[in-house]
Amino acid sequence: MVSKSILIGPFKEILTLRGLPLYGPLNDGQLEVIPDGGVLVVGENIAAVDNFEILREENKTAEIEEVAYPMVLIPGLVDAHTHICYAGSRANDYALRVAGKTYLDIAKSGGGILSTVKHTRQATESDLIDGLKRRCDILLKNGVTTCEVKSGYGLSLEAELKMLRAINKVKIEHKIDLVPTCLAAHTKAPEFDSIADYTEYVVKEILPAVKKEGLANRADIFVEESAFSANDARIFLEAAKELGFDFTVHADQFTSIGSHLAAEFKAVSADHLEASTPKEIELLSKAKIPGVLLPGASMGLGMDYAKGRLMLDKGMSIAIASDWNPGSAPMGDLLMQAAVFGAYEKLSTAETLAAITYRAANALNLKDRGTIEVGKKAAFIAFPTNTYKDILYYQGSMKPKRVWC
Ligand code: NIG
Ligand code: FE
Repeated sequence: MVSKSILIGPFKEILTLRGLPLYGPLNDGQLEVIPDGGVLVVGENIAAVDNFEILREENKTAEIEEVAYPMVLIPGLVDAHTHICYAGSRANDYALRVAGKTYLDIAKSGGGILSTVKHTRQATESDLIDGLKRRCDILLKNGVTTCEVKSGYGLSLEAELKMLRAINKVKIEHKIDLVPTCLAAHTKAPEFDSIADYTEYVVKEILPAVKKEGLANRADIFVEESAFSANDARIFLEAAKELGFDFTVHADQFTSIGSHLAAEFKAVSADHLEASTPKEIELLSKAKIPGVLLPGASMGLGMDYAKGRLMLDKGMSIAIASDWNPGSAPMGDLLMQAAVFGAYEKLSTAETLAAITYRAANALNLKDRGTIEVGKKAAFIAFPTNTYKDILYYQGSMKPKRVWC
């Protein structure tokens, strides 16, 4: 079957983000901006990107999708870290936290992750699908065309599989592309006396079953004093590696243990990094492990941001993701969070946009998206403006007018 060609445009500007390095600082002068641009799409992929009139001349048989008013086109956003498959709400936790209780205090007294686990276990697969679809609708409207989604609110074989099956069904049914990750090692399941016993259960029962059913190619673990220790994590990461999972680590959210494990095991990314010091940054930079920074968790918990500027200056690759979850990061607005974080950390426009497009795709080990260039997936978003600089200037309040994916 021959796919039809569609020429979309003209756009005031196309910001392609092609040809840029994965690691280290970027300046805006490195950005390629195509004025009066067009994109030729064949099937699911980009076949050409150039001046719209030139493309029209060269592709006389292509169907034309003319855009009506001035717009700027950029790659679809990639949210590389979320927990948006869940049931219940943690508004009560939030109110306690803003009134002075800590995240860890609330977890210890029965709130926190385990309260979401309770609701998620009680939910049916179709309840989870409904909630996840609703959140995917919001993401897509906000320009996110690829989104990673973790399990981790089941903590039993049955409930983890239920979550991952829900994520896989929505991946098929929704326009947004979802990337499922098994986070069975999120926290100790309440039925287990020790974290060591639970780790063994995850490694022997859950990970192999997830692999067998083909529900996820990625595995994640929350390494923290209050969750999994370095020793537990070693057992988990060995097993994940053995089973052929790509793996990532919730690292250095409150204490800086996880990044050392991420470097030791060569994880595909190290996520959070709010508590990373120059020592951990040096380590991750040397090991070439991308950092996935989660300013939404800092906003939700009222805590410090990760040192994004220093990480780039030390040669790291950074992605920014929303961490959207019912507890620490309830907002879920990636562009807004990236813009505010970028202003705070003094990231250039190029650095912030790279962190939510091609550098975020790379942190998920996806090489087929994140830029507007020949051969990449046709996932891009258009903002109703004349210049790409407006996108971060409005700090996320200007939403995309059109989303193609
Ligand atoms: O990335 N830190 C652990 N996990 C999540 C929070 C999950 C929750 O609070 O429900 C995070 O912030
Ligand atoms: Fe998280």
